[in-house]
Amino acid sequence: MDTLVATDPQAESKDAAYREAAAEIASVVAGEGDVIARMASVCALLADRFEHYFWTGFYRVDPAKPDELVIGPYQGTLGCLRIAFGRGVCGTAAARRETLIVPDVHAFSDHIACDSRSQSEIVVPVVDADGRLIAVFDVDATTLAAFDAVDARGLEAIMRQTFAG
Ligand code: SME
Repeated sequence: MDTLVATDPQAESKDAAYREAAAEIASVVAGEGDVIARMASVCALLADRFEHYFWTGFYRVDPAKPDELVIGPYQGTLGCLRIAFGRGVCGTAAARRETLIVPDVHAFSDHIACDSRSQSEIVVPVVDADGRLIAVFDVDATTLAAFDAVDARGLEAIMRQTFAG
């Protein structure tokens, strides 16, 4: 007898959208060695493709102050310029080097509100080919619980292929 596997069509189409975005990003940045150019292209393509993205951008590890993140390329309203390691969602993800999904930013006690419209957030660490943390990628949404494991897997794969490849 065949086994029926229940699938979530929304999750499947989001997964497919991340795979398409990954292919598009790979082709756009192919041969481009400048990290800022790669980051800017990732932001532009992802912000344009996903409707649930309200603020989309990178906070880079500042080479002059390695325990601080400084704003990188982004799309959206004004983002705060610097975040210390361990502070906010971004600084926590950087310090732990792990993806954080925050379904309700108001329930995250140390959340840094750059725009009061943000309700939920995902932050993914960005590592280079030598395994060094170079940035975090931050996406905010204006709805609660906008991000799930599909976003996490999709974004982690894009960050890996674009910056650690
Ligand atoms: N909310 C982030 C700060 C960056 S903005 O969302 C653009 C945080 O708590 O780290």
